[in-house]
Amino acid sequence: MKQFADDFIFGGATAAFQVEGAAKEDGRGPCCWDEYMNRPGSCFNGDKASDFYHKYKDDLELANEFGINGIRISISWSRIIPDGSGEVNRKGIDFYNRLIDECIKNEVEPFVTLHHFDTPLTLFEKGDWLNRDIIAHFVRFAEICFVHFGDRVKKWATFNEPWSVAQNGYIIGNFPPSIKFDIPKAVQIMHNMMVAHAKTINLYKTMNLPGEIGIVHTLEGKCPISDKAEDKRAAYLDDTIANTFMLDACFKGEYGKDTLETIHEILKKNHGTFTVYDGDMDIIRTASKDIDFLGMNYYSSHFLQGYDGESKMHHNGTGEKGTSVFALQGIGARVSNPNVETTDWDWPIYPQGMYEMLVRIKRDYPNYKKIYIAENGMGYKDDFVDGNIDDTPRIEYIRKHFTYILKAIQEGVNVKGYYVWSLMDVLSWSNGYNKRYGLFYVDFESQKRYPKKSAYWFKKMSKTKRLVS
Ligand code: BG6
Repeated sequence: MKQFADDFIFGGATAAFQVEGAAKEDGRGPCCWDEYMNRPGSCFNGDKASDFYHKYKDDLELANEFGINGIRISISWSRIIPDGSGEVNRKGIDFYNRLIDECIKNEVEPFVTLHHFDTPLTLFEKGDWLNRDIIAHFVRFAEICFVHFGDRVKKWATFNEPWSVAQNGYIIGNFPPSIKFDIPKAVQIMHNMMVAHAKTINLYKTMNLPGEIGIVHTLEGKCPISDKAEDKRAAYLDDTIANTFMLDACFKGEYGKDTLETIHEILKKNHGTFTVYDGDMDIIRTASKDIDFLGMNYYSSHFLQGYDGESKMHHNGTGEKGTSVFALQGIGARVSNPNVETTDWDWPIYPQGMYEMLVRIKRDYPNYKKIYIAENGMGYKDDFVDGNIDDTPRIEYIRKHFTYILKAIQEGVNVKGYYVWSLMDVLSWSNGYNKRYGLFYVDFESQKRYPKKSAYWFKKMSKTKRLVS
């Protein structure tokens, strides 16, 4: 099968901090990333990013011209409420009203995420997602967004990738607050975010708005590197903490028995635990009955080997192939698979992992309603030659993933759209401006946009609704 349904969305994804820039304009308050990227020794920041704050009209026209009929945007919490919990910034509301209207004018449907990593600095400094007060502040922020934009926004996501917030901030240490190997804190963060997510879903459902609401998870496959029992166990442990834990909460409304036992086993080996507070599971259970969709971000899968030692880690943030190290106490080690190609940033290119994950969602969470591929794409060091960018490897990467999406659809998985990461080149959180993903090349000096070869290819796909070679 090569044909997509007529209403299949061929979208492009962005996130506020990675594209907007205008970090100090019109009353925006700082988020945790402003401080983190401006710390001594940091080589890049988000002050200008892709200047979407000023260029959104051009970007949406370009999107429309290239057949892109959906855009993932996120709302910067600290643009709406500068300190996260106090006064509302009218200019922030005005900006998103203009942006949403412009999306609709260009027939590029907005898919809006409420939290894409950019926690307001004031709340971050009070304990980030470990301080449970943040839950009520987040729900208030969400309500303000629903009230102001809910008449026109028909697709809402509570969070983008809670696992990345937990893993990168508290285990790898390449996101603020740069804590390493604190797996108990990471699990507590995920649970607290699940409560905030569920409360937000439950609130939205009382407001009778004309849209749908879900969450975006990063769902990477976890494959044992061999048939050895310890490698299989390592894959299972990594999968449980990264995938099953929150999928269970979102779609079963509880942490399954095996899931919980496995999490406690991991936590025990890391000398800690996590707390579920009174009432949390009732809130989570209610939301799981009403959630409208799963947004799935898929870039890669990991190959796991059993590992008994202490945690060790090196993040490849420069694109120097073969420099990553990732081994976690109580879980396992991610190792390279000689049969699987990787990107320069050591991300295995494993499109069948996307298919396996889609089929698994249908099998293990049969009450899911629909799935959007909310991000997929390839970080690549694009060559800019006289305004032309030949990014054939990116086309190949995306094409292979589309093949597996079609296979999953054919087998009955309800996939309704695909948002390529990213619409235009953006700031990469821990890799800076050299790791490019966009369909449109951005010259970050002049802020000019140039369609890459992949943009022309994507246009053909969206116009014909067919997989083209
Ligand atoms: C996803 C995020 O995890 O991966 C995006 O939602 C991010 O915001 C993307 O940019 C690619 O990751 P990276 O680290 O290569 O920029």
